Amino acid sequence: MSADRLEYEKLAQKVEQLNEQLLHSEKLASLGQLAAGVAHEINNPIGYVASNLVSLKEYIDSLMMLIRQLSNQLPVEQTNKLKQLYDFDYISKDLPILMSQSESGLLRVIEIIRELKDFSHIDDVEFTEVDLHLGIHSTLNILANELKYKANVKKVFGDIPRVRCVASQINQVVLNLILNAVQAFKSFGIITITTGCDDSWAWIRVEDNGPGIEQDKLETIFQPFYTTKDIGTGLGLALSRSILEKHAGILEVKSSVGKGSCFTIKLPINS
Ligand SMILES: Nc1ncnc2c1ncn2[C@@H]1O[C@H](COP(=O)(O)OP(=O)(O)OP(=O)(O)O)[C@@H](O)[C@H]1O
Ligand SMILES: [Mg+2]
Repeated sequence: MSADRLEYEKLAQKVEQLNEQLLHSEKLASLGQLAAGVAHEINNPIGYVASNLVSLKEYIDSLMMLIRQLSNQLPVEQTNKLKQLYDFDYISKDLPILMSQSESGLLRVIEIIRELKDFSHIDDVEFTEVDLHLGIHSTLNILANELKYKANVKKVFGDIPRVRCVASQINQVVLNLILNAVQAFKSFGIITITTGCDDSWAWIRVEDNGPGIEQDKLETIFQPFYTTKDIGTGLGLALSRSILEKHAGILEVKSSVGKGSCFTIKLPINS
């Protein structure tokens, strides 16, 4: 192959790679929008299912009373036969269990929808006074399934004031850091999320006991497109740092190979 051809092939490969990365970053940006869209779509049907369930419970109670009262009018033998025929005793025991399971399932769905909405904060790209702990909770709920078999999450929350920030963007940073920790684990790991503050900063620390990062890579990991993963884009930390810059904040890292990594999000208070 000629040198020109080789150069061309290399360039074509690079363009292809950049295209894929761009597509992924667009996907990342639209994740919040998608979450909000899904939450909105599910909200409506879940609303009437929830209200129907309340009515159904009342109707069932009334019907059971009616059956019991009617059965008192019949001879005992006939009542017993009918009850057996329709499995009445089993049904009357199982009904409240089914209702309460449906209720708690529904409550869980309603909670997930609320978390999705909290997480995406799609309408709010403005700075507001935010309770950072709420954002961390909703981010952890979004990731609950992802984390279940891979990591244990410990929360050590301090007493911190509300912080002026764009909630959806800070959630995105926390999400990136937790995902990175999970993806770094070679076996089941521990992620510790600590919050606290001093006179100038409120901080969120995401610490893992994963493989750690070499000292000479501690700056490189923030460069766009730097990744050690097959499916990574290498944009997570670069985006996270730029989000913090927009907040006049800092994203710091400390790591020790074989022991783990610790990322700290610092946001200014009283600014
Ligand atoms: N907690 C961590 N433990 C070990 N290595 C990490 C950790 N966090 C980040 N890294 C290293 O930093 C690199 C860059 O991280 P970054 O989040 O920017 O990109 P990515 O995770 O590879 O891809 P993406 O986030 O776009 O899916 C990772 O590929 C990984 O090598
Ligand atoms: Mg990442």
